[in-house]
Amino acid sequence: MTERKQVARPRRLRSNTALRKMVRETRMDRSSLIYPMFVVEGENIREEIPSMPGQFRYSPDRMGEQLEALSNAGVSSVLFFGIPARKDASGSAAYAQDGVVQQAFARAKREFPHLYCIGDVCMCEYTSHGHCGILCGEDVDNDKTLSYLQKIAVSQAQAGADMIAPSDMMDGRVEAIRSALDAAGFVHTPIMAYSAKFASSFYGPFRDAAKSAPAFGDRKTYQMDYHNRREALKEAELDVTEGADLIMVKPAMAYGDLIREVKDRTCLPVAAYSVSGEYAMAKAAAAAGYVEEEGVVCEMAACAYRAGADLYITYYAKELAGYMECGRIG
Ligand code: PBG
Repeated sequence: MTERKQVARPRRLRSNTALRKMVRETRMDRSSLIYPMFVVEGENIREEIPSMPGQFRYSPDRMGEQLEALSNAGVSSVLFFGIPARKDASGSAAYAQDGVVQQAFARAKREFPHLYCIGDVCMCEYTSHGHCGILCGEDVDNDKTLSYLQKIAVSQAQAGADMIAPSDMMDGRVEAIRSALDAAGFVHTPIMAYSAKFASSFYGPFRDAAKSAPAFGDRKTYQMDYHNRREALKEAELDVTEGADLIMVKPAMAYGDLIREVKDRTCLPVAAYSVSGEYAMAKAAAAAGYVEEEGVVCEMAACAYRAGADLYITYYAKELAGYMECGRIG
């Protein structure tokens, strides 16, 4: 009796490095990377964020060091978060003309004219209570918050922001911000909506970095419940209707299913945000010798792109740009 011949041999296409690269299904390059950056009010500040080793808060006069290193690495886009010296109930430092993030935009555009500057629009870094909007009792008042988000978005655009990225999760904010930007003459400023943003424990280190943990309660009345899939599609569809130009899914690593579904159901570019907790876990596990940092960072990135991300927002942007350039991934 003759033995059955093995016909299908998937291993054939894995037998050589050049061949593996040729048949690779997911391609990526440095132009798709966005680096999130914390800018703190003050002078001559460069302080390391304890829960995010290797990440720093910079005052506007010192952030050039990092922007220079990023552009040398080929990262051309930065998402700015401001940390004001004083916080109040209505987050007034978020829309002050000389607010910290406004200073950062003006300076970045002056010193690095080719850098693409994105403004995170939210109130939690600016409010004394740490919630993402205006309070009414212990609840965040959705519609009252909208007019503040409009003021913040316009003030960031006036300071030089190239794109506006609302992360507050209020209903109707994309439409409200679009109409305010248009009325102020910023018809060409795109909006990247944090559409499917989940109430996530992966944001822990960010709140440490931005000193923005809520003073009471949590964000579950405005950020999404992570058990929900169809609701993420509902949020994305609403933002498309309201005029969003790009859609974001956040966090990234544990949410690949939703990156894929949003990609398949909408026609807008999709961004995935690999958040602070993802960074902190990779750093801590690598420091303990449990995983190899470069390997897991490349794998996390490639998997987000494979899931459908067109843009990848990550604290590892500089390192990833290097890995992409030398062909380690991409
Ligand atoms: C502001 C905002 C947060 C993040 C991005 N924008 C924090 C939060 O919602 O609590 C998280 C980013 C990260 O963890 O890296 N609302």
